[in-house]
Amino acid sequence: MLKICGPYKINGTIEVPGDKSISHRSIILSSLTKDKVIINNFLFSDDCINTLKILKKIGVKYQIDKDAVIIQGCGLSNFSEPDDILYTGNSGTSIRLLSGLLCGCNFMSILSGDKSVNNRPMDRIIKPLTEMGAKIFGRLNNSKAPIVIFGGRKLKGKRHEISVASAQVKSCLTIAALFADGITEIIQPEISRDHTERMLEYFGANIEYDGKYTKIIPGNDLKGKDIFIPGDFSSAAFFIVAAIILKNSKIIIKNTGINPTRSLLLDILIKMGAKIEIKNKRIKNNEEIADIEAYSSNLNAIKVDEKVIPYIIDEIPILSVAAAFAQGVTEIRGAKELRVKESDRIKSISNEFNKLGIKVKEYPDGLGIHGKANQKINSSNLTSYGDHRIAMSLAVLALKGEEVVQISNTRCINTSFPGFEEKLFKLISK
Ligand code: S3P
Repeated sequence: MLKICGPYKINGTIEVPGDKSISHRSIILSSLTKDKVIINNFLFSDDCINTLKILKKIGVKYQIDKDAVIIQGCGLSNFSEPDDILYTGNSGTSIRLLSGLLCGCNFMSILSGDKSVNNRPMDRIIKPLTEMGAKIFGRLNNSKAPIVIFGGRKLKGKRHEISVASAQVKSCLTIAALFADGITEIIQPEISRDHTERMLEYFGANIEYDGKYTKIIPGNDLKGKDIFIPGDFSSAAFFIVAAIILKNSKIIIKNTGINPTRSLLLDILIKMGAKIEIKNKRIKNNEEIADIEAYSSNLNAIKVDEKVIPYIIDEIPILSVAAAFAQGVTEIRGAKELRVKESDRIKSISNEFNKLGIKVKEYPDGLGIHGKANQKINSSNLTSYGDHRIAMSLAVLALKGEEVVQISNTRCINTSFPGFEEKLFKLISK
């Protein structure tokens, strides 16, 4: 539980923990090489630890050394049958990416998650994997986890036209494609994050990608190389927005990933009037990194272009917090994917903001947030709905208020950002 009574300011220089998406991929893709790969600045959050535990259960050997994980890869054909159900906890990335890998293995496996994961749509991976020749089944007519995979089927490459812009689906199929005979092509309706493609390219895979198009030609042995995981932009976003909405504030976040398929929130905030600077841009293991500075700003509302939703999909809760203090109505539409995240984020945001006295209109595919520079915040008891990004967004929002705000069910923050509360409380002052 978190109890916050503002108003606060926030100042300081920090780093945020390693990127969650890249951490998952680093251990999964390193396992597919035959090499020893040192992964520095790995995110030891609940989600990534679940992926690590599952890899161990299918025969991957690793060591942990401070903030590094050292993986000894198995190659494509040396994974072994697990003796238990593979539990992914709250992690959609784990269940979807690992399904792609397990369909390429020659044994049976069962994947299951917590209540949230077992209610999220899995037909989006079960159907295309089946079309590649996999024997994979799910609960409720192959639409939900638990998922059962009977491995040992030779997969066939295929051209997939997927109906939802999802990096999890694209990555699942890309990983399965590495085990397949023939070429796999994936065409998405919009561009989604490209960490899998970048890492496979870094490991020497035969992969081509351009915007909505990805092509995988299997047969190249992957060559494992050491990886440094940049700070997670999605975690940095909480501190960026805190500095922007709070008075007399300045924050510097060092070594943060600014992959263009992830960092579009910066452009949106700048268009809203935010003072943000990006410094010391560089590339490390095929990913862009920089230091980000953000200052107290006066914001105006914005109409977010529907096309960019996949670029900011994880940042919509914290963008909504910025919107609450931006003059006018911020419209976020074309975002129905938010309904099938760790919680129904459209409902979570609209319910909790309305409790605080911030007027929010809920649409089937988005939100209309009525913002004011001098927005008042009512004393309230809020819930995170067990969703880490809702919990952290509400905590940032509460810093701005003058009354006590309580947020229950905040343990879920460990899903992506262990140590968030300590970091935040060190940086804020009255
Ligand atoms: C992720 C992709 C996104 C994102 C999730 C992590 C990934 O999901 O919301 O937090 O690591 O591939 P979708 O691409 O399925 O929308």
